[in-house]
Amino acid sequence: MLALDQVLPPSATVTSQGHLSVGGCDLVELAEEHGTPLVVYDAGALRAMARTYREAVARHAPGGEVVYASKAYFGLAMLGIIREEGLSVDVASGGELHAALRAGFDPARIHLHGNNKDAHEVAAALDAGVGTVVVDNLHEIALLEREAAARGIRQRVLLRITPGISPSTHAHIATGQSDSKFGFPLAGRMAHAGVEAVRRSPHLAFEGIHAHLGSQLFDLSVYRPAADVLAGFAVEVGPGDITTVDIGGGLGIAYTADDRPPSVDTFVETLAEAVHDAWRAHGLPLPRLVTEPGRSIAGRAGVTLYRVGAIKPIEGVRTYASVDGGMSDLLRPMLYGAVYEPLVANRADAEPTEVVRLVGKHCESSDVLVGEAHLPPLEVGDLVCVPATGAYGVSMASNYNGQRRPAVVFCENGASRVVTRRETYDDIIARDVL
Ligand SMILES: Cc1ncc(COP(=O)(O)O)c(C=O)c1O
Repeated sequence: MLALDQVLPPSATVTSQGHLSVGGCDLVELAEEHGTPLVVYDAGALRAMARTYREAVARHAPGGEVVYASKAYFGLAMLGIIREEGLSVDVASGGELHAALRAGFDPARIHLHGNNKDAHEVAAALDAGVGTVVVDNLHEIALLEREAAARGIRQRVLLRITPGISPSTHAHIATGQSDSKFGFPLAGRMAHAGVEAVRRSPHLAFEGIHAHLGSQLFDLSVYRPAADVLAGFAVEVGPGDITTVDIGGGLGIAYTADDRPPSVDTFVETLAEAVHDAWRAHGLPLPRLVTEPGRSIAGRAGVTLYRVGAIKPIEGVRTYASVDGGMSDLLRPMLYGAVYEPLVANRADAEPTEVVRLVGKHCESSDVLVGEAHLPPLEVGDLVCVPATGAYGVSMASNYNGQRRPAVVFCENGASRVVTRRETYDDIIARDVL
């Protein structure tokens, strides 16, 4: 048993050589073959999480829909798994829409999001025939109506609402409060005005509401008051008019050994009960429930491997250990202070007897992957594995400092395949025009 059992992919084991393995593949061998930084996914775990969501929704909210939030990780191989497992997909930009279409999604299963969709994105979505557009503001409703009218279609829409409820999570990933760039606040009847604008638009069909409260949630108690507020709004809008309620994603995952997130089943059951109870209490016909998980499908299945380079002990201060990646492949620690617990993949059974600051190679002092990493004494060339990097890692990667974005490898049953090749230096300058 590894100390980080809940954090690593479910298939993680330690080989007889003390190497960490995922999906039956030795991570030390993979790093040697493909170089580092390297992102490795347990493909079976991705599949299993997608299926777990589908089954939980079938159990607790029959007729409901699971929409994978592709912002968490939108590689084509990942989207292929999501499609094969029968989930829908949420895209928040033209780029994510392009990826979903290339991955073979039925456009009717695509939900378009975004707080500032531009005319090209709206046109591309309508031309592709996306099933649902989640409208975010009055400007967008006018734009969507114009584009739908030009095509002679009637587009199904959900109205994104902020119910004025703040979940217990980091402020940067809380979205349910009224003071948010996303959606229509109920405060000041802005959401009512949004519904009216949709109703006045002959080429838009109002289907219901969307409310994503926040991400990395462990405390699910926020869903009951939120559902109550939404049901109250549904009464005001007109009983029976809201036939779909998309309650967003948000289920947290374990990033450290102490984290204990609720299970997918508990999450879906909690959402479904909260919405169903609130709708019943308000005398409304039950809506179709939609949930939009991202992190809880992709997060635990992925790990990132780095090679240790410079190690700098500063007497009386601390030891810095630098790796060959950093904020260009894992931005979350810098973006909102996310905490990870790394281990040494080539000595996975060694005791963590030292505390070091694990830093990246970028020209920023804030390029700190793990402020206090508990690791065995490090040596140059060690392979550090940062678990639970499957969501919001690769999808937020950049070329800062001319860093090539990492390769991605999927492992399952002892077989590995590169699903995204490492960038080349020529890739980095390919768009420059002299
Ligand atoms: C609208 C919307 N839906 C779904 C998600 C996915 O959230 P999570 O990855 O926490 O499940 C997000 C995350 O930001 C979001 O903004």
